Amino acid sequence: MTQPLLESELEPRYLYVHTFGCQMNEYDSLRVQRILAAHGYLVTPDMVSADVIFLNTCSVREKAEQKVHSFLGRLKRLKSHHPGLKIILAGCVAQQLGNKLLKRFDHLDLVLGTRAISAVGDLLEKIQQTNKRLAYLPEVDSMTPRELFTASPAATSPVTAPVTIMQGCNNFCTYCIVPYVRGRERSRPSREILDEIEKLTSCGTREVLLLGQNVNSYGRGLEEKISFVELLHRIQEETDLLRLRFTTSHPKDLTDELIRCFADLPVLCKYLHLPVQAGSDRILKRMNRGYTAGHYLEKIQRLRDACPEIGLSSDVIVGFPGETEEDFQQTMDLLKTVQYDNLFSFRYSDRPHARAAAFDDKLDEETKARRLMELQALQADITLRKNEAEVGTLREILVEGPSKTQEELLTGRTHQNRIVHFESTRPCTGELITVRIREAASHSLKGEPAA
Ligand code: SAH
Ligand code: SF4
Ligand code: F3S
Repeated sequence: MTQPLLESELEPRYLYVHTFGCQMNEYDSLRVQRILAAHGYLVTPDMVSADVIFLNTCSVREKAEQKVHSFLGRLKRLKSHHPGLKIILAGCVAQQLGNKLLKRFDHLDLVLGTRAISAVGDLLEKIQQTNKRLAYLPEVDSMTPRELFTASPAATSPVTAPVTIMQGCNNFCTYCIVPYVRGRERSRPSREILDEIEKLTSCGTREVLLLGQNVNSYGRGLEEKISFVELLHRIQEETDLLRLRFTTSHPKDLTDELIRCFADLPVLCKYLHLPVQAGSDRILKRMNRGYTAGHYLEKIQRLRDACPEIGLSSDVIVGFPGETEEDFQQTMDLLKTVQYDNLFSFRYSDRPHARAAAFDDKLDEETKARRLMELQALQADITLRKNEAEVGTLREILVEGPSKTQEELLTGRTHQNRIVHFESTRPCTGELITVRIREAASHSLKGEPAA
């Protein structure tokens, strides 16, 4: 007779991971893969053959949350064919709805709040042994930095890897759910960040993306005295990284000291994502953003004075409650003035807890959709023109590996985060190389290695 326990110890078990949302969720999903690897799980790209499905969720916009619900719907059928399957739901929807999710979806086994990632291994074993369903949403105050942040890197790491340095947000923009699902700001001790970067570089990582909802306020509340700028300097001095990026930076907290880093720190990519959200002062005030369009434009000017080649991107919300045609035109004018390299734009949607959900002058969906289309058309034009202006230039890129769409090509990124595809006669993944740009498209460039 076979010994079921022994068999499960010998046979590999498979984990399927699906991640919605921002890079912080990507980072948490990596942590889950690493934690569950220690429990014997191999990652599979095939959902049907998985023993455990881990779904990391986002609730920042209504559409993001709907995607999670429809994904969960699809999993119901899968589970009916595969009753041993365990389904875990984590991330911001998990934090937002908690136990309600277990009530609503009876095929869901484990719900993990945004601070519960480090417990995934133990809780998975527990639900497997007891066959009980569980929701775990720990409070932030009770947690150690290790529980909140740590992800021991795997033996081989990608060329570009994320590293979370703080999570949570104290800004309470009136449209935003993040402060409610990620809690108050918590920074990670600098020693742990530097150690993680060191481990990553020794496993092949060349570029790190520092993550936080508001990285500029890094260091607040830590026992050690350290600012975000000081952290950047220490990474420059104490690690072997080739490149460093960070996201997201709040315009109101962007200091001259941080602006100088783009000129002073060779490791720091000349690129900044600086979400403006709107071009109208009236709307910015109602959003509780803490700056005017004028202040924002001054900061853009100072960035460009300090570092003329800096690449810039932004987030914009259209159709915020009370947005008039004139307010919207001010956002369009701001895009024309700044000339962003790239833009992420969204149609406003109500979010639970967020103050704007109770504002009474909501716009109809048709107006929001029209404004979004108009704005995206304008930006598509700007992005394409900026990409075309790259043709003929020499650019340093960090090579990330084979192109996702054309396997015979390699892909890298410029400082300004532009994707460049090129043909290479030798393997050069992980290297900084210089390419001459030959062709421009709307989302990428083509180049060839310069002699
Ligand atoms: N912490 C980051 C971004 C968080 S969310 C920051 O402060 O910039 C990412 C983007 O989603 C936001 O910048 C905003 O443009 C958009 N967003 C957030 N809430 C939204 C809502 N209720 N409706 C539409 N877009 C929203
Ligand atoms: Fe949300 Fe504003 Fe905080 Fe960004 S800064 S996470 S938009 S509340
Ligand atoms: Fe979404 Fe949560 Fe990130 S709501 S954008 S996954 S912090």
